[in-house]
Amino acid sequence: MKILLLGKNGQVGWELQRSLAMLGEVVALDRQGAGGLCGDLTDLAGLAQTVRSVQPQVIVNAAAHTAVDKAESEPELARTLNALAPAALAREAAQLGAWLVHYSTDYVFDGSGSTPWKESDAAAPLSVYGRTKLEGEQAIAASGCQHLILRTSWVYGARGGNFARTMLRLAQEREQLTVIDDQIGAPTGADLLADVTAHAIRHLLPPMRRNDLTPSGIYHLAAAGETSWHGYARFVLQRAQAAGRALRAGPEQVLPIPTSAYPTPAQRPHNSRLDTTLLQNTFGLTLPHWQEGVARMLKEIG
Ligand SMILES: NC(=O)c1ccc[n+]([C@@H]2O[C@H](COP(=O)([O-])OP(=O)(O)OC[C@H]3O[C@@H](n4cnc5c(N)ncnc54)[C@H](OP(=O)(O)O)[C@@H]3O)[C@@H](O)[C@H]2O)c1
Repeated sequence: MKILLLGKNGQVGWELQRSLAMLGEVVALDRQGAGGLCGDLTDLAGLAQTVRSVQPQVIVNAAAHTAVDKAESEPELARTLNALAPAALAREAAQLGAWLVHYSTDYVFDGSGSTPWKESDAAAPLSVYGRTKLEGEQAIAASGCQHLILRTSWVYGARGGNFARTMLRLAQEREQLTVIDDQIGAPTGADLLADVTAHAIRHLLPPMRRNDLTPSGIYHLAAAGETSWHGYARFVLQRAQAAGRALRAGPEQVLPIPTSAYPTPAQRPHNSRLDTTLLQNTFGLTLPHWQEGVARMLKEIG
């Protein structure tokens, strides 16, 4: 199998380099490209040419404009990366008969209510990021290519900066932290996303593909369970304390605040819960609880 991976150095892209390797030949690109191939999502003609040269059976797009607040002040760039580039990839995938695997977000929803969102629920994004990601989804569906759009939430990786690292640093510097407690979701590891992606890809193509399986479409993919950012922060500090790390602020010193007390350029959904039943049933998977992945990541970052 030949796979073209875009965004190889992002949180998810990095883990995909590991998890896709067992499936076959992976041509992995970042925005700099390599070997005359273009991996820059702002170069739509270059991207199309890359797909034509590589002739992959599967394109996995892990690149995106993910700076949610910054997107508010650069909507055109966000739209190019999150909507026009996936559309260009989808057109090429349709021409080639290739699968396109793409990632989207809980931010396509308005965050109302407290019920986990199903794939069939109406999207109503609150931000430029959410709107452009939704436009990307719609363009992929309209292209007619075979696709998996995996909507996820609150992604973290062990590599580089992440929420847990920030909380640990702040808890060493300060005696008290304030963290939002009215946005609810599930922290989801980039490693889990990558492993599920590899598992799903195996089911798309022969010899694993079953004739009764028609999985092209949108799937919700997030770790099990739910928490707030406040609950997430407390869990991180509890684990750090249990591991013997010296902190000025322990879990009891993490105070809950409402979103309204922490204004940001982009509005974020309060309810980011995703119902993952469809993915688990279609691909025969059980998604682990978010605490398992976060505990593991904390051990990795030391
Ligand atoms: N992070 C989250 O909490 C979250 C939540 C829900 C859904 N998602 C979705 O999950 C997917 C993966 O997200 P992630 O967390 O892995 O994001 P990430 O760590 O921010 O990675 C995004 C990647 O896109 C690359 N990129 C930016 N501009 C580019 C361009 N012009 N051409 C090519 N590549 C470019 C970045 O490269 P540089 O490093 O060079 O900038 C980076 O490697 C995205 O589709 C995202 O929308 C993420």
